[in-house]
Amino acid sequence: MDHFLYKDGELHAEDVPLREIAVAVGTPFYCYSSATLTRHFQLFEEALSGREHLICFAIKSLSNQAILRLLGALGAGMDVVSGGEYRRARAAGVPGERIVFSGVGKTRVEMAYALGQGIRQFNVESAEELALLSQVAASMGTRAPITLRVNPDVDARTHEKIATGRKEDKFGVPISRAREIYAEAAALPGIEVVGIDVHIGSQLTDLAPFEAAFTKIVELTHLLRADGHPIRRLDLGGGLGIPYTQSNEAPPLPLEYGAMIKRVVGDLDVEIEIEPGRLISGNAGILVASVLYLKQGEGRDFLILDAAMNDLIRPAMYGAHHDIIPVIEPAPGVARAPVDIVGPVCESGDTFAKQRAMPPLAPDALVAFRSAGAYGAVMASEYNSRPLVPEVLVHRDQYAVIRPRPSFDEMINRDTLPPWLETAPATASDEDG
Ligand code: LLP
Repeated sequence: MDHFLYKDGELHAEDVPLREIAVAVGTPFYCYSSATLTRHFQLFEEALSGREHLICFAIKSLSNQAILRLLGALGAGMDVVSGGEYRRARAAGVPGERIVFSGVGKTRVEMAYALGQGIRQFNVESAEELALLSQVAASMGTRAPITLRVNPDVDARTHEKIATGRKEDKFGVPISRAREIYAEAAALPGIEVVGIDVHIGSQLTDLAPFEAAFTKIVELTHLLRADGHPIRRLDLGGGLGIPYTQSNEAPPLPLEYGAMIKRVVGDLDVEIEIEPGRLISGNAGILVASVLYLKQGEGRDFLILDAAMNDLIRPAMYGAHHDIIPVIEPAPGVARAPVDIVGPVCESGDTFAKQRAMPPLAPDALVAFRSAGAYGAVMASEYNSRPLVPEVLVHRDQYAVIRPRPSFDEMINRDTLPPWLETAPATASDEDG
């Protein structure tokens, strides 16, 4: 359940009518529910209760400072994949000992910064990265705590672009080489082995691939311990899927996921870390847009919105489905007709839904894209010079803009002219033409 519900005939975020925010902020905008974020985080806490654990929110899914502050205050750790995300987590008050650093291409500068400022562990993805990290840590007179991300060669059976645990994917070290690379790690002066890491993909709607991967990791733990490595943490990654439609989908619940983890890990004496992103943030956010036109085409009608692929790229990039609902609740039994729902960007790919059955919507009507909290705002851009979409956080009957829409001047003035163009006339003179 989330906290975007119709009350008195109009869609609310918790106790705030979305229409009210739309009037104040303008559309499009993202809107998040504090209660939903909190509840989703707590579902994981409950799911892993009774075992030592840390839930590291994958901030790539939603990285606004207000969201990180909210989750950090609940005790969340953070999974970061860049120096920028590391700084975001720290700026939101999350201590280094609750931050894990993932990613296949960490730079020397990122390593040194995180080591200097404090880090729980690096999830290292290759022997090459291990060697560099050791060098960086040793040169700072310290040792970097690491897990190796192991690629278990399990097919997550999710979208091609977000499956990461097959041997042809770029992620992790092959499980067949894990013992060899752990032996290398143990011999390096700047490395301290603390555990094993695995992450097989995103939007998994079945527990079986997780279970297959985690079983391999538990077996590997025994082997590595026998080899003398102090494996005290298992980072089991993120990836638990969410329902994107209100009707027919029922992915496993965090409680079932947690029970499976506890069963597979059994009485192994390890601390469990997980890195959920989407399950915490996905259904805690919506994107609100206005209808610009209902354009009658040949054989099909187009609902043209003021939101576009630059604001929410998931449909264009992954063919992802988002439910799109009117903010004013349609009368029961109202006739629905198929429309293509599109944005103003000059590409046919700027299509949110094809032949979607929608109730009648007039220009200026508000619509909400559900399940847009994860990989929505964070993947937004200013393509077509559309200022970056703003974000709003609701808490009961209050709301606050947590990232304002930039003005056109702010957007344009981020560009700078090189000295040789500064004095050039802004318009061509007649003689030039
Ligand atoms: N840990 C690692 C190492 C990851 O690479 C990811 C996601 C996560 C955790 C969090 O996964 P989650 O719990 O959110 O599924 N932009 C795509 C999703 C990309 C996921 C990338 N990695 C989308 O919009 O579906």
